[in-house]
Amino acid sequence: MNLKDLYINFFIEKGHKEIPSAPVVPENDPSVLFNTAGMQPLIPYLMGKVHPYGKRLVNAQKCIRTNDLDVIGDATHHTFFEMLGNWSLGDYFKEESISYSYEFLTKVLKIPHKKLAVTVFIGNAEIPRDEVSANLWRKQGIPDEKIAYLGIEDNFWIAGDSGPCGADTEIFYWRSNEEVPHLFDPEDNRWVEIWNNVFMEFHKSPDGKIKELEKKNVDTGMGYERVVAVLEGKDDNYLSSLWINSIKKLEEITGLSYEGHEKEMRIIADHIRTAVFILSDYAGIKPANTDQGYILRRLIRRAIRHSRTLNIDQNSNWEEELAKIIIDQYSNYYKELEVNKETILTELAKEKTRFSKTLEKGLKEFAKVISNLEATTKKEIGGKAAFKLYDTYGFPIELTEELAKEKGFTVDLEGFKQKYLEHQEKSREGASGKFKGGLAGDTETETRLHTATHLLNAALKEVVDKDIHQKGSNINSERLRFDFNSDRKITSEELIKIEELVNSWINESHDVEIIEMNKEEALKTGAECMFIDKYPDVVQVYKIGNISSELCGGPHVKNTKEIGIFKIIKEEASSAGIRRIKATIS
Ligand code: ALA
Repeated sequence: MNLKDLYINFFIEKGHKEIPSAPVVPENDPSVLFNTAGMQPLIPYLMGKVHPYGKRLVNAQKCIRTNDLDVIGDATHHTFFEMLGNWSLGDYFKEESISYSYEFLTKVLKIPHKKLAVTVFIGNAEIPRDEVSANLWRKQGIPDEKIAYLGIEDNFWIAGDSGPCGADTEIFYWRSNEEVPHLFDPEDNRWVEIWNNVFMEFHKSPDGKIKELEKKNVDTGMGYERVVAVLEGKDDNYLSSLWINSIKKLEEITGLSYEGHEKEMRIIADHIRTAVFILSDYAGIKPANTDQGYILRRLIRRAIRHSRTLNIDQNSNWEEELAKIIIDQYSNYYKELEVNKETILTELAKEKTRFSKTLEKGLKEFAKVISNLEATTKKEIGGKAAFKLYDTYGFPIELTEELAKEKGFTVDLEGFKQKYLEHQEKSREGASGKFKGGLAGDTETETRLHTATHLLNAALKEVVDKDIHQKGSNINSERLRFDFNSDRKITSEELIKIEELVNSWINESHDVEIIEMNKEEALKTGAECMFIDKYPDVVQVYKIGNISSELCGGPHVKNTKEIGIFKIIKEEASSAGIRRIKATIS
């Protein structure tokens, strides 16, 4: 049995319920572009909401972290990874958490006791030193010299700047054939962190204040690819069973050996795998110039650039061959890969063709920029030149930066941004949104917009076509954005009717009811649902009179009159067969 199954079965035996991985693109959480940890989709439950599956959960969550693309190319980092996690939502705390971890590592994985060491929180003015965890480790037989006390940077965990958080204890494994030293030194990189157990008993608000949560939770995370490599005795994750097929395929395609071309092959394998997972997501992300679509575009284009340095023929279907390996390898767990296989392969090929057309010319242009600079003492590529590379040759700004860095130059990012904004006058919202990154929002407005989205969905069915369904949704404190299937533009008469209908429903002051029911039953009642695989067996259906009924995690207003006045500001194409409406409330 592989590590993933062993882990999940172990925790099921300990009374946990397996929950499906949430999609990589979070629903209704505009503060992040992708899920970055197993706990992210669980935040409402860590904050006290009752989870339909109970208090003990386990899963493998698809995660994407793209904040530091520079490090990809080394032996251990990936932009996509699976996080194995187990949670206690106000149920067990430190004692069981530590003893479960220890039992899993030593009894199931049979890791020798002496190859393990741990860190615990040293304490600060607000939160005491975690002697409880240290003593629990001692009880398991971990000696004092294998327990290190570290500060807030290392042993306190929070996703971002605010939210549920707490001290953690990290478990390390001795990955070396050399003898295990007597004293554990967390700085010695032969000790590899394999598991993080967070004791989430606090909430940090955006103003920095820390308050105790009503219930104490446990949130743990184990990086799947890292631990597979460790258990297989590989220093290089890409030589583990999870990656070896992609690497072998790259050797076959290029006729080169991995040795000596590690960096390029790792980047290509990593970026194609992440692109495949993003494209498989039900949110329907396609390469684009904003938000998730922009990250996707950057990953594909960076993979293409590195494929060219390995002289891969761009007229061959190399990207398809690599994508198929990923689809085959992961379809058992994530059936969206098989379901969306055609889209994945088509979009990759389309983006390759688009970029290949301009890449060569762009590289010539880039060389010209550099040689002009070399004639001076300047070490910075100007904003105008960087913008031309972006606009005319499709170079994501980060690609220009990377190329510049390889030549010992920098890029005037401020100048680039200015040029970019000048050219985006007409769609300023999208442009500034991109540079702001995640859009943090006012929760109350977002809640109202969220309920308005359900009404809009219902109005589209009534006015345009009963077969219209949600294909994507994004809400920030300014507006809602709703994607749906339609082969044609929605006419302005229809838009007026939709707006009027939504406003009349708002004015009728309908209560918004939450009904818990079995998933099958909910679907039979005709409840609207976008990501069916995502939902547990028991689901929440939000019902607004006889107008709308949707499977949803909320949050919603209690009565439609709280929404205010609904106004459509834009209707446009989003991608083939998908239209997009943006609307506000006031
Ligand atoms: N949420 C914790 C982490 O990502 C477990 O490390």
